[in-house]
Amino acid sequence: MPFNSADFDIRPMQPADFAAVRAICARVYLDEPPYTEEELAEHHALFPQGQLVASQRATGTVAGAHFTLRLRMADYHVDDSWDILTAKGSFADDDPVHGHTLYGADLFVSPDFQRHGLAHGLTDATRAIVVDERLWRMVGGSRLPGYSQVAATVSAEQYVAGVVAGVRIDPVLTVHLKDGWKVVRAVHGYMQHDPESMNWAAVIQWINPNCPPPEGMQL
Ligand SMILES: CC(C)(COP(=O)(O)OP(=O)(O)OC[C@H]1O[C@@H](n2cnc3c(N)ncnc32)[C@H](O)[C@@H]1OP(=O)(O)O)[C@@H](O)C(=O)NCCC(=O)NCCS
Repeated sequence: MPFNSADFDIRPMQPADFAAVRAICARVYLDEPPYTEEELAEHHALFPQGQLVASQRATGTVAGAHFTLRLRMADYHVDDSWDILTAKGSFADDDPVHGHTLYGADLFVSPDFQRHGLAHGLTDATRAIVVDERLWRMVGGSRLPGYSQVAATVSAEQYVAGVVAGVRIDPVLTVHLKDGWKVVRAVHGYMQHDPESMNWAAVIQWINPNCPPPEGMQL
């Protein structure tokens, strides 16, 4: 079902949303503890416009979220782990001055609202941040939750290539590809507690066509 902006608002997260966001995390990430209220408050304080939620207009119910921070990638490697890229989930490494890459730290939608186009709407809203802030690109790590089902016979690189070619469907990477992201490479150890993905992920990015690479940086 396509995202219908008449039914959902996409807006910056507010402190009143923290409990609902935590409840969604607990439902979609069974192997990870949800963000704490303190962590969400820190993200909100550091980069409020980069923490987006989708909420149902009729009820005010929080349906999903996309969390981002600005990184100067010369300080990091593109296939560093989530813990490193997010300063252990604190987002304390958000760099409002030199951060030319918007790092998509998390994207999740409540099971009650999946397949309504909300990931698509949240990704478009995030892309608008890249354009508005004149950033070079956005980068993320896509989980590969379908990989564990075939890992005995297929390498992670082959699995990702199959999803990119459209001959395999992954419940997360397929969504990101439909939303305009491109795969850079498969990486191991991006998440430490993701048995469905066997701790594999695909580094993904979207380049802002209106912003040339910053000096000294290349794709
Ligand atoms: C991945 C996730 C965010 C997708 O959210 P969503 O709101 O259901 O996705 P959308 O409805 O915007 O779907 C976007 C596209 O992907 C497709 N899609 C969605 N879920 C899919 C699935 N499980 N398998 C295949 N395709 C899927 C949709 O059909 C849509 O395609 P279309 O543009 O051709 O219509 C959601 O399933 C989720 O929260 N998963 C658990 C948390 C997680 O793993 N997040 C990813 C962190 S990297």
